[in-house]
Amino acid sequence: MSATNTNLHDLLARRIPGHALEQPFYTSPEIYQQDLEHIFYREWLYAIPACQLVKPGSYATLRIGAYNIVIVKGRDGEIRAFHNSCRHRSSIVCKAREGQVAKLVCPYHQWTYDLDGKLIWANSMGPDFDPTQHGLRSVALRNLKGLIYICLADTPPDFEAFARAAEPYLGVHDLQDAKVAYSSSIIEKGNWKLVWENNRECYHCSGNHPALCRSFPLDPEVAGVSADGSISQRIQDHFDACAAAGAPAQFLLGGDGQFRLARMPLQETAVSYTMDGKAAVARQLGRVAKPDAGSLLVFHYPSTWNHFLPDHSLTFRVTPISPTETEVTTTWLVHKDAVEGVDYDLQHLTEVWIATNDEDREIVETNQEGIFSPAYIPGPYSPDWESGVIQFIDWYAAWMERSLAPSRMAAE
Ligand code: FES
Ligand SMILES: [Fe+2]
Repeated sequence: MSATNTNLHDLLARRIPGHALEQPFYTSPEIYQQDLEHIFYREWLYAIPACQLVKPGSYATLRIGAYNIVIVKGRDGEIRAFHNSCRHRSSIVCKAREGQVAKLVCPYHQWTYDLDGKLIWANSMGPDFDPTQHGLRSVALRNLKGLIYICLADTPPDFEAFARAAEPYLGVHDLQDAKVAYSSSIIEKGNWKLVWENNRECYHCSGNHPALCRSFPLDPEVAGVSADGSISQRIQDHFDACAAAGAPAQFLLGGDGQFRLARMPLQETAVSYTMDGKAAVARQLGRVAKPDAGSLLVFHYPSTWNHFLPDHSLTFRVTPISPTETEVTTTWLVHKDAVEGVDYDLQHLTEVWIATNDEDREIVETNQEGIFSPAYIPGPYSPDWESGVIQFIDWYAAWMERSLAPSRMAAE
C-alpha cells in the first residue's frame, strides 16, 4: 500500500462527521492528485453547453489536471471529444480556448485531422505508415438535452441514472434552442472542495451577496437540503404548482448523493436573478409557463451546478487547477433568437452573478488563507444552514473511501 493511500485512508477514517475536513484535504498536493485520479479522471464531467459550438468546425478546449481535451462539432452536426494531443509527437493540436477551423491542424508538423478525428494528411511518413491507426484518441461524450458531459475514463461509469432523472426537468428548458449570451471564467485561489462547500450553503449569503439576495431567498431549505431531509408544505406546494404548469420540480437526490434536482422558488416578487427581480430576457428560453417557477437547481459532483430559470439558464463548471486554485466558468444562455439590446440588456442579465461570483471568490480565498494556518482545527457545520455542505463532504468522503478500497485490499 502506498504511503499516500494509507495517509488518506487514515485521514478519512478519523474524520468527524458534520465538521470540515482536516487541513491536508485543502492544501496537500498528494491529496489533490488523489482527487484528480479518483474523481475527475473517472467521473462524468460537465464541459460546455452544446450551443457554444455554433457550426461545424467550432471547437472548445479544456484542461482537467494533466489532460487536455478538444470538443469539436463535425460536419454531420455531431459533437465529439478527443484528447488534444497529436498522434505524431503529441503536440497540443488546438491551442486556443475556443475557435473555428475547417480541419484540426497540428502546429508542429502540420499533421491534419478531419473534424471526426481521422488523420487525413501526414507528410513523408513512409510506405508502411497507416493513417487509420493514428487518428485522434476519442473521449467519451454525452449530450444531455444540450449539456455536454465528457468522461476521461476508458470505461466510463453509468451516466443513464443521471440522464434519466434529469431529462424531464431539463426538457422544458429547450437548451437546443439556446445561444451563449455571455461567459466568464475566474480563478478562485482555493481548493475545489472549498468552492463546492461555499456553493452548497447560503449561510454566507446575507453577509456577502447584496445583489443575489434581492432575488434568492434566505431560506436554508432552498439552498441546501433540510437537515432531516423533509420538505416543508410551502416548498411542496411550489413543486406541485410547477408540475401542474408542466415544469417538473420535485426534489430529487440521486446517484448516492452525487446529483440533485429541484425547482426552488425565488423571493416572492422576483422571477429572475436580476437587480430588480424582473425577467432578464423578453424572448424566453424554454417553455416554463409559470413565470414565478423559480430556479431549477441542478448539481452534479464534482464539476457543475446550474440554474434554469423561466427566461434564461446559467451553467457553472468547476475545474481544479492546483491544490489551491479552481477555475469557475459561468455561461449565460438565452434563446438563440433573442437580440441583445432588444430582448435583453447584457448588464441586466449578467450583473447579479458576476458580482456574486466575485464575492464568492473572495470568500473562498479568505477561507483558504485561514486553513493554511498551523493553528487550523476543522470546525462544525451548522446543521440548519449547512446541511448541503455536510451532504457534499459526506459524498466526497464516501466516494474516496470506496475508490481507495480496491487498491487497499489488493495491497493487504
Ligand atoms: S507533433 Fe503534431 S505533427 Fe508533429
Ligand atoms: Fe455565495
